[in-house]
Amino acid sequence: MSPFLITRILPEDATDAALRADVLEGLTGTPKTLPPKWFYDAHGSELFERITALPEYYPTRAEREILLARAPEIAAATGAHTLVELGSGSSDKTRHLLDAMPDLRAYVPVDVSGSALRQAGEALAAERPGLLVHALIADFTRELTLPDTPGPRLVAFLGGTIGNLLPAERAVFLASVRALLAPGDALLLGTDLVKDPSVLVAAYDDAAGVTAAFNKNVLSVLVRELGADVDPGAFEHVARWDAGREWIEMRLRARTAQTVKIPALGLAVDFAAGEELRTEVSAKFRRGGVRAELAAADLRLRHWWTDREARFALSLSVAG
Ligand code: SAH
Ligand code: TRP
Repeated sequence: MSPFLITRILPEDATDAALRADVLEGLTGTPKTLPPKWFYDAHGSELFERITALPEYYPTRAEREILLARAPEIAAATGAHTLVELGSGSSDKTRHLLDAMPDLRAYVPVDVSGSALRQAGEALAAERPGLLVHALIADFTRELTLPDTPGPRLVAFLGGTIGNLLPAERAVFLASVRALLAPGDALLLGTDLVKDPSVLVAAYDDAAGVTAAFNKNVLSVLVRELGADVDPGAFEHVARWDAGREWIEMRLRARTAQTVKIPALGLAVDFAAGEELRTEVSAKFRRGGVRAELAAADLRLRHWWTDREARFALSLSVAG
């Protein structure tokens, strides 16, 4: 069994302070919003894993198809000795990449979800003798300090999670990723692509209601962490395609007028009947847009691969 290290860059009390600040800002603003990273407590991470297996949720299968087909090319193009993965979750698809990288020395999964990191990291370290697994509990939208592992490095950001950042946040994020790259390092980015809105909406509003449960779980986090007196059942899951901004927007709609008290913040938030709280955007991309966003962060697109149905893309880019 090879070493498994886990480093918490986000101290527990910093997580708590950040949650309070985000909830205060998001619920007192107009319209009301909450940032998506708070979905992923242990239960939220489990619900997300169930989403990835839903018939309507094609992105995981499409990205897996690309990884299976292209992992050897990715390994050859990068020659990476360290794989850093941002928002790694279960690291499930990453296995296809690891399988194609026999020279890999270190895997550094980075996630806010300690439970997901522990489960995935321990299993990988047990299975892959000789591979150092150094997990980081960290917020990838904040400054990242990576452990000192051998280069070249490949930084992977899969799952289309970049689409969960707003355009201005993406620009800041890509610049911070660029700053992590030394000459010879590369970025492997997964982006979901613009397609028929009915396909998109179904992916975020499945018939079995798993996505609805996932969306409402953010309210359960507020109950547990901040003592909020909110009933998740008093809200309805909404997924809409915004054709202008080319993103799916997830919202929670108050079924009735209600006041949500959050004692930990000394806050009482009024919802009108039908009022919607935005919990997440999931932007969909086109090749030109990805290329331009990368270029704005001083990253150059080198490869663009899609699945056979061109639903999802993986791109490989380098500094400069
Ligand atoms: N890469 C996996 C999981 C995608 S879900 C896949 O492709 O299936 C998004 C993941 O990013 C979750 O594991 C979540 O916990 C993590 N995450 C979300 N916001 C984050 C943030 N700000 N910092 C670090 N991890 C974050
Ligand atoms: N990165 C995923 C995506 O945008 C996250 C996700 C999938 C998600 N389904 C969701 C987030 C439902 C909130 C609600 O596809």
